[in-house]
Amino acid sequence: MLIEIEKKSQTYRFEAAEGEKILYAGLRAGVPLPFECATGTCGSCKARVNEGDINEGWLEAPGKENFKAAKREILMCQCVAQTNCNLTVPSKIKAFREDDLIPDHHLGTITQYEKLTKDVLRFEVKLPEEITFHAGQFFVLQVPGVEGFRAYSMVNYAPSSNKLEFIIKQFPGGKLSDWVFESDRSNDEIEVFGPLGRATFHPDESMDLFMIAGGSGIAGLMSILEHGSQVNHFKNHRASLYFGVRTPQDMFFADRLQAIKAKFPNNISINIAFSIEPPTEEQLAGADGINYSFGMVHEIALPAVEEGGEGTIHYLAGPAPMVDALIRPLVLDSKIPADGIRYDKFN
Ligand SMILES: Cc1cc2nc3c(=O)[nH]c(=O)nc-3n(C[C@H](O)[C@H](O)[C@H](O)COP(=O)(O)OP(=O)(O)OC[C@H]3O[C@@H](n4cnc5c(N)ncnc54)[C@H](O)[C@@H]3O)c2cc1C
Ligand code: FES
Repeated sequence: MLIEIEKKSQTYRFEAAEGEKILYAGLRAGVPLPFECATGTCGSCKARVNEGDINEGWLEAPGKENFKAAKREILMCQCVAQTNCNLTVPSKIKAFREDDLIPDHHLGTITQYEKLTKDVLRFEVKLPEEITFHAGQFFVLQVPGVEGFRAYSMVNYAPSSNKLEFIIKQFPGGKLSDWVFESDRSNDEIEVFGPLGRATFHPDESMDLFMIAGGSGIAGLMSILEHGSQVNHFKNHRASLYFGVRTPQDMFFADRLQAIKAKFPNNISINIAFSIEPPTEEQLAGADGINYSFGMVHEIALPAVEEGGEGTIHYLAGPAPMVDALIRPLVLDSKIPADGIRYDKFN
């Protein structure tokens, strides 16, 4: 199907394959369409159908909450064109950076399936070819028998790789997380599309990093720390990580974080906050170089934010209530400019 989007300055045209979401088709064709979650919850990919027939896909998508059916408003990340279509996209169509990467569809195989805690597991998706992604980006994944794609941030980083490493937290009643926890999924095929997302790290920006993660929000921040470590970014730049989990038993990746800190001991600080149970005496003794505390991660991290945030990018990743609880005080109290904050809200 041919999709046409008219803007004042330019008309964009691209082909969508049968059954392909309009957003994914446009991004795959190199059109920098607006989006955030790419999975139906945020509403950023809003468009209006001027001509053509659309299958809207997920009718209850939260991103459509205030949309007007009479105006044929749709979410491009959910709908599929049934005929050639002409759309209006109200948001700006613009690239984030010159080195934005063009996403594509791949069929991968699950490997290295491993439980990290009672409700977090990791696995890798092996792709048939090498691809490139920016640290902090995500892919959307689709598995058999579960309607729709889900977004997951890569944990690993390499300039080019055929391996995507993910962690997934079990979400009560969640369809994809149930599927992945149900049994060892090693060797299962999985459909993926990406890379996507703008909460990315670019060493050429030459910035310090202030990072706050809730639970599986640590995924993309691990990738950023890994990239920074590989290019010795932390020889001259600071990174402060605040990572919140519920109890000491829910903690994972402490060994990997320790290894990165050990390489740049003066410029990296790792702070882990437990929200439900206090740290153990051994943890408080601090032998592993990590600072442990008891409380909500956003409340522990906020007092450490420097006013104005000059020279620092603030990365936020995790449950939407945590990210929302941070954005307002960062902007209003700490006077961090909008371009100093990059976030991923995990619906
Ligand atoms: C940018 C980003 C990065 C993320 N990274 C991670 C990560 O690294 N690790 C992690 O554990 N979680 C991550 N998440 C959250 C993850 O995408 C899922 O929301 C979470 O795993 C729960 O999925 P579920 O299928 O178990 O739950 P469900 O409640 O079944 O589904 C949750 C999400 O799936 C989509 N969905 C649900 N039903 C439909 C439908 N009928 N049709 C189409 N779509 C539907 C929606 O986006 C919904 O919010 C991330 C989210 C975002 C936005
Ligand atoms: S990008 Fe489509 S709803 Fe978020």
